[in-house]
Amino acid sequence: VIDQDTKIVFNRKVALKTFLMGLKSADIAAHASPGQFVMVRTGHGMDPLLRRPFSLCGIKKDDLFLILYRVVGRGTERMSRMREGEKVSVLGPLGKGFELPEPRSLSILVAGGIGIAPLIFLAQAARNNMIFLTGYRSISEIVPLGQLGLTRVEPSIATDDGTAGYSGLVTELLESHLTESVEEPDEIFACGPIQMLKRIQALTMEHEITCSVSLEANMACGLGACQGCAIRALKNRHKIYQHVCADGPVFDVHTLDWESL
Ligand SMILES: Cc1cc2nc3c(=O)[nH]c(=O)nc-3n(C[C@H](O)[C@H](O)[C@H](O)COP(=O)(O)OP(=O)(O)OC[C@H]3O[C@@H](n4cnc5c(N)ncnc54)[C@H](O)[C@@H]3O)c2cc1C
Ligand code: FES
Repeated sequence: VIDQDTKIVFNRKVALKTFLMGLKSADIAAHASPGQFVMVRTGHGMDPLLRRPFSLCGIKKDDLFLILYRVVGRGTERMSRMREGEKVSVLGPLGKGFELPEPRSLSILVAGGIGIAPLIFLAQAARNNMIFLTGYRSISEIVPLGQLGLTRVEPSIATDDGTAGYSGLVTELLESHLTESVEEPDEIFACGPIQMLKRIQALTMEHEITCSVSLEANMACGLGACQGCAIRALKNRHKIYQHVCADGPVFDVHTLDWESL
């Protein structure tokens, strides 16, 4: 794991309360894979609780890694005010990411809100056929994928309030695909709110499709040392604890105890 002071190359607004930050580190960029995350120090002082987890959203030019974040509280508010040239302490890349899909396969990527971040990196790294379903609350939150360098896939959009694309939930778009399309996907990848992931778990179970999800949890250390991010999983029908930071954040959807989540 790399613990480094990285320089902010840019930090720009891309949608409502949503920012894209580019940070310089050849070491982190070289070791990063889709689904992994970094812990960013969002304040001064020694308190480890000042670090916040963010998925890697991509790498550029071999020495730059990207974070796409939404302002929700104190730490992300501070980040949004950081300027080009400032230095930020970053720990990472951490956790287990997605297994890249086979080149000849068909994947469906399902993103809910800012959960799109790790899926953008996955879409850029993979070489297979892809359908990208993205859901937002409203038109103002839509992340412009072209601006982020993702031109390979044209995303389908759903908004809760019907201001853009399909009016309704992104999981309804997924359900239509699974029931109406001729070609069944080989695998589904998802990241977003827990209710969305629960619905995807049910749908992929019903259609018997492999599915990997990236989970969020409160994280203090990010290294498997504090127990803060423990969740319940199932192994051979027994409940076991897993750390989202070290065993995940990407899990096989069918191995988690969804009733406890
Ligand atoms: C593996 C992982 C990857 C993530 N990737 C992204 C990403 O790519 N983009 C993005 O915008 N957000 C991502 N998050 C969520 C992000 O970490 C939180 O939004 C951020 O920590 C909030 O910090 P804050 O100080 O602004 O908010 P706070 O004032 O601390 O809290 C505001 C809200 O954020 C939640 N939160 C606070 N601290 C954490 C924490 N350490 N971990 C998780 N949730 C927290 C709280 O439950 C609360 O609802 C990810 C979380 C995890 C666990
Ligand atoms: S965040 Fe400390 S164990 Fe996972």
